[in-house]
Amino acid sequence: MRIDFVTLFPEMFEPIMGASILGRAREKGLLAWSCVNPRDFSEDKHRKVDDRPFGGGPGMVMLAEPLAQAIDSVRTKNTRVIFLSPQGEPFDDRKACELAKTDHVVFVCGHYEGVDERIMSLFDEELSIGDYVLTGGELAAMVVADAAARKLPGVLKKEDATESESFASGLLDFPQYTRPRVWRGREVPEILFSGDHEKISAWRQDAARAATRRKRPDLLSRA
Ligand code: ADE
Repeated sequence: MRIDFVTLFPEMFEPIMGASILGRAREKGLLAWSCVNPRDFSEDKHRKVDDRPFGGGPGMVMLAEPLAQAIDSVRTKNTRVIFLSPQGEPFDDRKACELAKTDHVVFVCGHYEGVDERIMSLFDEELSIGDYVLTGGELAAMVVADAAARKLPGVLKKEDATESESFASGLLDFPQYTRPRVWRGREVPEILFSGDHEKISAWRQDAARAATRRKRPDLLSRA
């Protein structure tokens, strides 16, 4: 999978995209990413990328042309161009799986009061990571990139595979325990020491259902 981030703040990406599992995915050649800065396409002598909104009002609006040129500089025939914004379709696990099957994604990160509406014609889709407003699309783009990249074959170790985890099954994860057997007076459920894999599996299914009912009952009515 290859990702280009269209961003005014490329320095935000390496600390997150270059660390931990995503850093290893890059070393293994499973994920490649880079940043393209609309400022490099500004025709203004001050490298301006925003202006005041027509009709008045507070804040600045991102100019369409530098954004369009930044997108065009990386787009190919098979590119999916995604704009991150609070107005987008809610991002979820299903969308993460879908993106993991896409060869090339361009994430466009907005700033200020928004972007000139006419740029929307260049986007294949608009995604939101939740009903709140971030200072820019960068963190949202990295959230989406992380959730998609961990679905790529070989990114996680086999035993960490994603099929049984929260959301893939429509349920939350079952609870996990490790040593010590008793921690601050709290015991690990006895069944997990039984060695009976069928019973353990049934217990885990029940526990996942109970956790979902308690924490996210909305998921059960969707399943
Ligand atoms: N940009 C600002 N807020 C956002 C959000 N909630 N989701 C996606 N992009 C955003």
